Amino acid sequence: MAHPGPATSSPALGIPVTDPALAGRLADRLDEVDTALAEAVASADTLADDASRHLVSAGGKRFRPLLTLLTGELGDGTRPELIDAAVVVELTQVASLYHDDVMDSAPLRRGAPSAHTVWGNSVAILVGDMLFARASARVATLGPEAVILQSRTFERMCMGQLHETTGPRDGEDPVAHYLQVLSDKTASLLATSARLGAMFGGASPEVVEAVTEYGEKVGVAFQLADDVLDVSSPSESSGKTPGTDLREHVPTMPVLLLRRRVASPDATAEDRELLELLDSDLTSDEALGRALAGLRGHEVLAETRELATRWAGEAGAELAPLPDGPVKEALASFAQALADRAV
Ligand code: IPE
Ligand code: IPE
Ligand code: MG
Ligand code: MG
Repeated sequence: MAHPGPATSSPALGIPVTDPALAGRLADRLDEVDTALAEAVASADTLADDASRHLVSAGGKRFRPLLTLLTGELGDGTRPELIDAAVVVELTQVASLYHDDVMDSAPLRRGAPSAHTVWGNSVAILVGDMLFARASARVATLGPEAVILQSRTFERMCMGQLHETTGPRDGEDPVAHYLQVLSDKTASLLATSARLGAMFGGASPEVVEAVTEYGEKVGVAFQLADDVLDVSSPSESSGKTPGTDLREHVPTMPVLLLRRRVASPDATAEDRELLELLDSDLTSDEALGRALAGLRGHEVLAETRELATRWAGEAGAELAPLPDGPVKEALASFAQALADRAV
């Protein structure tokens, strides 16, 4: 994997798993998932093959398949269906990234030039569609319940992206609207990753529900942390270009919090100036640099970090019905590590 994650007992995993036996099993199964993924994206057509392998080969953290393998351990983690489920969630993730980078005009993804900058928008969109089709074919092997789950998740991801694009309706609170966007575009897939693992590991219905709720909340924490990283993280560690969302005026939590502050009587002249800058043309590196510097030192970034930490804490609380042991511990530290990404 290309990008280092938080400290872990197993260098192969990007998430903290302190139990060595569990970490070893997960690393082995993740290798199986990677082999299956490489096969799942292959195509006889040379262009389709190159373009669809592009992001899978570039790396990525593989958080979603890891989550599936981890919650699978709440039952029988050796079941082969868990590998298929992990492949399905990562294919869905990768497909959505092809589309997202077109929508956000992002130049860099997983440390590599994004597909649309290499092959153009049409190829990037079509390859994303192709990968969604591959995910559908794979999930069909898991039966109708999994098919319905994956299709509802895909629909929520589209809805999240759609509502991010359209913005809130007149009179709708922009922050509440944005939290719904985060749930739909990001948390839906993390929730499904956790759910599929528990389902196909054979965990009890109570555990399946608990990890689904956990995934939803972890997903919101994850995306809030991602909003902070768009401002604070250099591309060497994120594999993405800082300020991509700012430059494209794609809404993110720190900017929405600043907008809310500017509309309140507490706003300072600096707040207003920064918002004006953020709303202006940020095509030049100089203007984007000033916008990034302004946000990095601003309280709204710290507020977004706090929000991420709060959501991660709520995710951890959903784990209460799980049996004590290394899997529960790993899920709890996974939630914490996701929030810590933002710090
Ligand atoms: C990127 O997800 C898209 C978001 C929902 C923020 P990741 O940060 O997990 O990206 P990869 O899979 O590691 O590339
Ligand atoms: C990505 O959201 C969400 C999906 C791919 C569905 P972002 O646009 O915020 O994620 P990054 O920062 O590009 O990874
Ligand atoms: Mg993006
Ligand atoms: Mg986006």
